Amino acid sequence: MVANKKRIRYNKLVDVPLLGNCCPSHHHRRAIIALTNEVMPLVLTINGADHKVDAPADQKLLYVLRDYLGLTGTKYGCGEGLCGACTVLLEGKPIRSCLVPAASLSGKKITTIEDLEQNGHLHTVQEAFLKEEAFQCGYCTSGMIMSAVGLLRETAQPNDKQIISYMDGNVCRCGTQPRIVEAVRWAARQNG
Ligand code: FES
Ligand code: FES
Repeated sequence: MVANKKRIRYNKLVDVPLLGNCCPSHHHRRAIIALTNEVMPLVLTINGADHKVDAPADQKLLYVLRDYLGLTGTKYGCGEGLCGACTVLLEGKPIRSCLVPAASLSGKKITTIEDLEQNGHLHTVQEAFLKEEAFQCGYCTSGMIMSAVGLLRETAQPNDKQIISYMDGNVCRCGTQPRIVEAVRWAARQNG
């Protein structure tokens, strides 16, 4: 798939005021503005398909997913690796996509929230979050789900301490952590 090419180079951070109250952690978020037209071709393997994009060499995966490929299920929270909203799987393990340059990921398998539903069936972890109503505003949810999927791939039957420790880097400003833990427990029981 060839992405819609945005021939821009993002390399300067500025503060941009938010419209409304959609940001879970800041009244202002740091945004990135376009300065030059320098780009390089990349091929990224995302959700089982190769995607060709022209992007700056230092462009982080999060912005390539959202701005170049339209995969907006992965969320921008802090942009600094602190909230987990941007979590995707790299070779099956959760990473913060706001921190990782896309150019470093050639040939590696990237999985986003869009790939969890298969043939009309939600992933067990998605079902679990719905069943336990493990969200309020939902902004953290895709990152939470991706981290939970990573956890259950590593540890099929985690205990509560393992769940809390593994999910600790994912922030929920709405206070739904108890229901998130319950959702991971429920998903683990389906594995068993
Ligand atoms: S956007 Fe917060 S950790 Fe990436
Ligand atoms: S931040 Fe609102 S549901 Fe987690």
